[in-house]
Amino acid sequence: MKHILAIALSLSTAAGIFCAGAVKPAFRDASLPLEQRVEDALSRMTTEEKIGIIHAQSKFCSKGVPRLGIPELWTTDGPHGIRPEVLWDEWEQAGWTNDSCVAFPALTCLAATWDPDMSALYGTSIGEEARYRGKDVLLGPGVNIYRTPLNGRNFEYMGEDPYLASRMVVPYVQKLQEQGVAACVKHYALNNNEVNRHTTNVVIDDRTLYEIYLPAFKAAVQEGGAWSIMAAYNLYGDRHLCHNDRLLNKILKEEWGFDGAVISDWGGTHDTREAIEGGLDLEFGSWTNGLSNGASNAYDNYYLARPYLDLISKGEVGTAELDDKARRVLRLIFRTAMAYDKGDGELCSEAHYDAARTIGANGIVLLRNEGGVLPLRTEGRPNILVVGENAIKMMTVGGGSSSLKVQHEISPLEGIRAAAAGIADVDYARGYVGDVTGEYNGVVTGQNLADSRTPQELIAEACAKASKADYVIFVGGLNKSAGQDCEDADRAGLELPYGQDAVIAALAKANPRTIVVNVSGNAVAMPWVKDVPAIVQAWFLGSEAGNSIADVLFGKVNPSGKLPMTFPVALTDNGAHATGSYPGAKREGSDILDLEYKEGIMVGYRWHDTKKVKPLFAFGHGLSYTDFAYGDVKADCKEMTSDGSMTFRIPVTNKGSVPGAETVQLYISDPKCSVTRPAKELKGFCKVFLQPGETRELVFTVDASALSYFDADRHKWVAEPGQFLASVGASSADIRSTAKFTLK
Ligand code: BGC
Repeated sequence: MKHILAIALSLSTAAGIFCAGAVKPAFRDASLPLEQRVEDALSRMTTEEKIGIIHAQSKFCSKGVPRLGIPELWTTDGPHGIRPEVLWDEWEQAGWTNDSCVAFPALTCLAATWDPDMSALYGTSIGEEARYRGKDVLLGPGVNIYRTPLNGRNFEYMGEDPYLASRMVVPYVQKLQEQGVAACVKHYALNNNEVNRHTTNVVIDDRTLYEIYLPAFKAAVQEGGAWSIMAAYNLYGDRHLCHNDRLLNKILKEEWGFDGAVISDWGGTHDTREAIEGGLDLEFGSWTNGLSNGASNAYDNYYLARPYLDLISKGEVGTAELDDKARRVLRLIFRTAMAYDKGDGELCSEAHYDAARTIGANGIVLLRNEGGVLPLRTEGRPNILVVGENAIKMMTVGGGSSSLKVQHEISPLEGIRAAAAGIADVDYARGYVGDVTGEYNGVVTGQNLADSRTPQELIAEACAKASKADYVIFVGGLNKSAGQDCEDADRAGLELPYGQDAVIAALAKANPRTIVVNVSGNAVAMPWVKDVPAIVQAWFLGSEAGNSIADVLFGKVNPSGKLPMTFPVALTDNGAHATGSYPGAKREGSDILDLEYKEGIMVGYRWHDTKKVKPLFAFGHGLSYTDFAYGDVKADCKEMTSDGSMTFRIPVTNKGSVPGAETVQLYISDPKCSVTRPAKELKGFCKVFLQPGETRELVFTVDASALSYFDADRHKWVAEPGQFLASVGASSADIRSTAKFTLK
């Protein structure tokens, strides 16, 4: 031991960090309170050094304070796996051979598990991968609300409901940060579509802002304790979000007490003075579009670099804001890069693959299962025909900044083949040709998906094989190509691309046991919905995609996912489109588009329920291979006081013959109120696992916050006395029991 200590001392002396016998600076003493360490470090720094830590010095890292031995801060995308290394100053791949990762399911899938334990597992697992790769800040998770099914980035977010997204984001953030890796919760805020993301000015009333678009960020900050947050590209109140005084200073920092750092989205900063005053702490990616365009050696020219220093030298701005920014960045460094108790991490471990597979299987949603066609019966060794490009296409490459370089990815066809080995025969037909390319930022899938046959030839082949098969599994949906589930653009419509509707319709005619597996991060139109007996919503499931899908199809896992968003029949059934609000209107003589959120608080199921627009599949919907019976919901008393709480109990029974999990949902309605309220709002959920025949009583407790609306004039949450309804159900459209109660 003595020997080891001697070596350690001589090494640290050689590195000039501190000399044997010298007093360790207070900022290095982890036993001291964080704020004391921050103040100590700040007091030792020059103005130049403070400026040095508040902007990037490469595509993904910012400088520390070399003179004091304060290390660099390394960020990484996020949010589904650890992005491969790019060159210091450009977007091209660095060409490392040790930066492959495990791709975890996309966050829509995580939200579809409705299981905070899955979020915790996700946070721990991705945190360990980040830690191993030496990353300090993970650029994720994303919690922008799913407002329109056209948003190219919905797959990176947690659905349409602020309560669900809040409950799911908190464990992710907490567990990630336990690894000494900061969450950078994005994209704060109102970045709810991708088209025109740099020029869209969102016009929204305060009630909608507070009720729908802010709660998940607030939960991530106040309950999750997020150490950083990423400001979005778009504008609000005519100010870019990266220097938006109201959202960053007033709401995030003052109202919510956020003590972490606000990081700009890459290239989202536009002005030095605005950035100084508007609450931005750490500038990244200027002069890029965040995705492909680069600019060499621009770092000294960043808005928060030399131009800021020049303003200070000329006495045009003071240093109070600089100190605040530097403090926040120092806090971030101390919590991550300089945390002494962080884990070593692990990369591509078995545990991480297991986590990816489990989260994937738990998030898959069984949308339809007429006649119990699923799970696949394997008695008599059936012939299974798999059809569709998404059965073979790698989905971890593409989609924008969340694109990954994986150690492996199991395709749906591979997963189905592996599960069928020895018990079923599997054949494949292409069915349609979508996008055969497979490249993002220099990472290539290496797949050759070229097929020169005409659509008619492909359909004819698939149908000929389908008519002889016992089961047909069509695996299609969207992919990560531009204009689909991909950053920087939105989808053109709700329809499936590449003529897939015609393929499905033909297959359904050829074989009555045609099962559709839809791979997407977004709702799609399903004109053939009644023509096929089974539909499975599989998201972008990452490295273990094929195994997770096969687990559900073959019944190894009983599906328990529920939709975190509504599937509308038609695009105009969605509030953002019914009101003609999307994608906003160009302002005369300017690049800016004003996008008014005209549907207000009526987002997703709130719109469908209140306006009585029947969805294709409702928010919260998801079937199981077993059946659950709900008893009557009972309130523990009839009246609640504004500072009290109310408990509801409901028994739920597994009536079927296989074990399974059900997510029981609690919705609250305020039928008579002085302001318009949605028909009902999710205020509780509980996922319960039940053996056949088992009954459990589920208990939900709510307080006045679950009954409140945001009164913008008084700037406070208000619960109006009167009668309320507590509805418990299996989805927003499948309410099984309702109890009345009164708020005094
Ligand atoms: C995206 C961010 C991402 C950043 C860095 C931007 O284009 O909007 O989500 O973290 O690039 O890659």
